[in-house]
Amino acid sequence: MSSTYASAESAKSALEDIKNTIENYNYQYYVLDDPSVPDIEYDRLMRELIAIETQFPALKTSDSPSQKVGGKALSKFEQIVHEMPMLSLDNGFKDEDLAAFEQRVQDRLNTQAKITFACEPKLDGLAVSIVYENGVLVQAATRGDGQIGENITENVKTIANIPLRLKRLSNQDDMPTRLEVRGEVFMPKQGFEKLNEQQKAQGAKAFANPRNAAAGSLRQLDSKITASRPLRMYAYSVGILEGGLISKVGSHRERLSCLADLGLPLCKEIDVVVGSDACLKYFTEIGNMRDALSYDIDGVVFKVDDISLQQRLGFVSKAPRWAMAQKFPAQEEVTLLNDVEFQVGRTGAITPVARLEPVFVGGVTVSNATLHNQDEIERLGVKIGDTVVIRRAGDVIPQVVSVVLDKRPDTAADIKFPATCPVCDSHVARAENEAVLRCTGGLVCQAQRKQAIKHFASRKAFDIEGLGDKIVDQLVDEALIKDPSDIFTLQLSQLISLERFADKSAVNLLRAIDEAKETTLPKFLYSLGIREVGETTARNLALHFLDLPSLLHADVDALQEVSDVGAIVAQHVYEFLRENLNLEIIQKLIDAGVSWPDIEPPSEDAQPLLGKTIVLTGTLTQMGRAEAKSKLQELGAKVSGSVSAKTDLLIAGDKAGSKLTKAQDLGIETWDEQGFVDYLATL
Ligand code: IVH
Repeated sequence: MSSTYASAESAKSALEDIKNTIENYNYQYYVLDDPSVPDIEYDRLMRELIAIETQFPALKTSDSPSQKVGGKALSKFEQIVHEMPMLSLDNGFKDEDLAAFEQRVQDRLNTQAKITFACEPKLDGLAVSIVYENGVLVQAATRGDGQIGENITENVKTIANIPLRLKRLSNQDDMPTRLEVRGEVFMPKQGFEKLNEQQKAQGAKAFANPRNAAAGSLRQLDSKITASRPLRMYAYSVGILEGGLISKVGSHRERLSCLADLGLPLCKEIDVVVGSDACLKYFTEIGNMRDALSYDIDGVVFKVDDISLQQRLGFVSKAPRWAMAQKFPAQEEVTLLNDVEFQVGRTGAITPVARLEPVFVGGVTVSNATLHNQDEIERLGVKIGDTVVIRRAGDVIPQVVSVVLDKRPDTAADIKFPATCPVCDSHVARAENEAVLRCTGGLVCQAQRKQAIKHFASRKAFDIEGLGDKIVDQLVDEALIKDPSDIFTLQLSQLISLERFADKSAVNLLRAIDEAKETTLPKFLYSLGIREVGETTARNLALHFLDLPSLLHADVDALQEVSDVGAIVAQHVYEFLRENLNLEIIQKLIDAGVSWPDIEPPSEDAQPLLGKTIVLTGTLTQMGRAEAKSKLQELGAKVSGSVSAKTDLLIAGDKAGSKLTKAQDLGIETWDEQGFVDYLATL
């Protein structure tokens, strides 16, 4: 599909066009947040670029978009002396601090006129310096101590929204000969959540927060790892400035807009206001938006906008007099860990919960924090009686961040995990490769029973109005229900016998229970509370098997053919459906009248690979394995993990091993990755 060129000369101009087009697509996608082409077209161009560069390696330059995937691993980071030191900022915490800042600026400039300030969210990531020479990214460094940082050029080059070449300007004289962009590298909240899910799935340690994840991802000697992490950068100032329009403009905001014209990403919330009252208003507004922003911030930075005023104001020790950071109220506080209790969750997971001396942090009083599991307790080295640092970020559960060892009393006691379930006394077990301890009691355990029933009745499951947590607790405590199926045999007299339960609510609840019997297969599967089976997986299972009996008969291999179902989830589903107690509950639910409409299978036209069993092996370079699998499934194929006589096709990426040999021995058709990609392009 990709064209071949007779000579490097003839490839050169085509290559330049392709690079420009890809850079433009990158810019639209990552900087403007406004993609303009379908992925398939982007991927096609990228392959064409790589093909030309492979054919003519001499044409491959370090600023080619093909270089965004990372290169050879380093053995250590080189040190870089910053030509201009990277400063820090003075902090303010109280509202008055803003007015005092403007006053100091006015006094120093000997003026009473209100000051114009550029306002920027204070991103919670890591400062970087990125040097462009004649528009080409040549070096990137960490802040380090402000004087000397580390050379992280290879890593920074992999960050999706950082251009390797600056955007051409209509007047080439406007391009600076040297430009040092300064900005913050961070991990957007969504990317952070996803990364942590992946880390957990791979048995790797989860990151405590997006900042740590960004720091850990940026300080990788292997830039391919950095490339795989969802990092972003927003530019917020400049260092070295030589030539170009940006050297001539007179205000911070104009410099930022020059950076934007050069293709650099800026935070969208940046604004310019006049006077400290307006600064305070901006600060309050950003504070209100904080949880809704896609990235973590810890305050707002205010900068005197006029560059000549900045120059007159100068610096004190390590911070400029013309800027300050107004910080949000602390989200970290110090308090005492009074005790640790153990909670049993829906799937039996036993979670240690820290009981704290109540403390006000990030706007609420916190008296509990999760300690996650034994590994986390060991990592923290925490004991009962310790003074601990608590963090509350956004609306997530408060975390214990660290222990203040200096304050450990002699009486500090080790945290002991219970040998049996604190609720039902069943024995507890820790599965191989898992950090959590679980009660093995299943629905025998009162705690798991309650959680399972609450989950079953919840909105995304059977959605039984009026069957809230308190009532479930009462019903289980009174032994009126033992498992979710008992909900459907509840009698009016039983409900009325409950404390504080009015006749009318009892009648309403029974009606709601009756109405809930009509459900859908996805909701039914979700409501069973199978480990790791959330709404999406439940829907995928339902769409794949179409009816309950087919799902009940599926073995682990068959389960893995379902979109987004890997070995672990398949095992959980399989084991759940082999447990007699669970099968009895499913039968009782159906006997009680729970039902759902049939699912129409998708039409054959849309599924050219319907009925084909396909195996993927080796490393794919143009798409991820999961992506390839779901593409095949969308087209109707079954994707299997092993080659057998039933296999219709093997798609072999790089370094394919025994599966490829086996397929060849069996005379099974095989495609390489390009063949697969070409096939997709014909659809
Ligand atoms: S300006 C002299 N602007 O905050 C100017 N810094 O406490 C120094 N930061 O090291 C930096 N967002 O990592 C500036 N919009 C912003 C910022 C910002 C985050 C970080 C940066 C810096 C630290 C200083």
